[in-house]
Amino acid sequence: MGLPLRLGCLLCAFSCCGAQVSQSPEALVTREGDRSAMVCTYSSAYFPFQWYRQVPSGEITHLLSVPANRNVTEGRFTGESQDGGKKSSLNLAETRVADSGRYFCAVAAQ
Ligand SMILES: *[C@@H]1O[C@H](CO)[C@@H](O)[C@H](O)[C@H]1NC(C)=O
Repeated sequence: MGLPLRLGCLLCAFSCCGAQVSQSPEALVTREGDRSAMVCTYSSAYFPFQWYRQVPSGEITHLLSVPANRNVTEGRFTGESQDGGKKSSLNLAETRVADSGRYFCAVAAQ
């Protein structure tokens, strides 16, 4: 087993048009080589979920865009659409030390 890693999930309070986004867990401690997962829930099902990572230096990168009813894989990241598009989980396979950071999701009106 490798070092414990802390993946912080910024609570996503982005809202649009009366809809709310929430994310869990708020913080996830995982170990190198393990699979990590976090879930984002939206009160509506019309927009794709965007997943981002913020590294400790502050830089934010976009990881995935998960449309309703589709699963998307980019490298070790898989974004799943659940609950008819109202929920999205981000799964990270084989977590590495370099994956430490804040993960958050947003639902943006176009
Ligand atoms: C996404 O993947 C999950 C788990 O593998 C599966 O249960 C689900 O049906 C998939 N969803 C879609 C929309 O393909």
